[in-house]
Amino acid sequence: VVDIRKLYAETGYFTYDPAFTSTASCESQITYIDGDKGVLLHRGYPIEQLATDSDFPEVCYLLLHGELPSAEEKEQFTRDITYHTMVHEQVSTFYRGFRRDAHPMAILCGVTGALSSFYHDSTDITDPVQRMIASHRLIAKMPTLAAMAYKYSVGQPFVYPRNDLSYAQNFLHLMFSVPAEPYTINPVLCRAIDRIFILHADHEQNASSSTVRLAGSSGANPFACIAAGIASLWGPAHGGANEAVLKMLTQIGRPERIPEFIERAKNKDDPFRLMGFGHRVYKNFDPRAQVLRKTCHEVLGELGITNEPLLDIAMELERIALEDEYFIERKLYPNVDFYSGIIFKAIGIPVSMFTVLFAIARTAGWIAQWKEMIESPDMKIGRPRQLYTGRPQRDYVPLDRRN
Ligand code: ACO
Repeated sequence: VVDIRKLYAETGYFTYDPAFTSTASCESQITYIDGDKGVLLHRGYPIEQLATDSDFPEVCYLLLHGELPSAEEKEQFTRDITYHTMVHEQVSTFYRGFRRDAHPMAILCGVTGALSSFYHDSTDITDPVQRMIASHRLIAKMPTLAAMAYKYSVGQPFVYPRNDLSYAQNFLHLMFSVPAEPYTINPVLCRAIDRIFILHADHEQNASSSTVRLAGSSGANPFACIAAGIASLWGPAHGGANEAVLKMLTQIGRPERIPEFIERAKNKDDPFRLMGFGHRVYKNFDPRAQVLRKTCHEVLGELGITNEPLLDIAMELERIALEDEYFIERKLYPNVDFYSGIIFKAIGIPVSMFTVLFAIARTAGWIAQWKEMIESPDMKIGRPRQLYTGRPQRDYVPLDRRN
């Protein structure tokens, strides 16, 4: 391992690594990934075990504190994150300022950043108690803010959180309850949502987490840093892929057209890519996708969905791509976004909300990464260098002498 700081001090050289394909930006004890072996560990615990045996609030605690909670600690943490589920009533006026057809990610980005103006008391990032309160607030409020974006878009009244429900139950309640008719929460769907939250909770130094760290490295307000993470997550090459998967399936339209789209994905002159396939780090399989594939079939079975055209296309696409030389050679497997989109669609979550659900879950990882960075003795403002390829120095030309 090259000590870059030493190399730079001795030679004045720095590394040029566009897209950071081989540069570590920090030390971290939160998440370990072995992309070749398809391993994902949070604080040492395999993701498959967490997804099967744990629940989302417990995983949030693990990411933040480094250890699984005792029964007492779990109860206290659950109390902490349910205590903070409400948002200031004034926040609802923010929503009314948005167009009804605004994308919910645009709304979430705006209102999360706006929380920094409501919680002045948690802006002292040098105080560990305030850092923890900000973390609880963010994890607790994200489902409320997300569901408010949805309710606003469909013209329904905002629903207040219910603190007697679990994290996942409360989210489904916030999304689907209407005053005239309380929503009956199906335990299989609830478990699927909780599992999706666990599987998306953290993924080490991906684009959005690195954005949160970089924004936070200047000492910025944590709510504003998370808003920066939401902005980064929105792109179709990152969290926006689950939405893009559904759009792609709709565009394909019928199973007979799949070969045409497979050919397009292989054609280097065509910008089209198979959404939900491939990953920067996983070059064998995505362990999260394997868990979700099973969950996807459980949900479809529970809902008795046997002839949903988009799901038929998805299953057929998966089958054909996994047998195609192009995808095999490049190690392109379905990633977590491929299956999460299908599950969300089956549960009745609108496509524009897919990335928002990813953001709810990833808030746990973002805030854990932010906290780890702030608490690191090496904490410094992030400042990448560049390789300048522009003009050399030249003299200013007055306007009347330019042609
Ligand atoms: N469809 C077709 N070809 C692909 C795809 C795809 N989905 N993904 C990669 N390739 C090809 C590339 O064209 C390239 O081919 P080449 O070697 O012949 O030039 C090769 O596979 C390597 O691809 P890169 O773009 O270099 O891989 P990178 O690691 O930079 O990209 C990424 C990873 C962005 C995820 C890419 O696979 C992709 O765009 N996938 C579709 C979008 C998606 O599903 N994103 C979600 C990621 S998971 C997440 O954020 C939770």
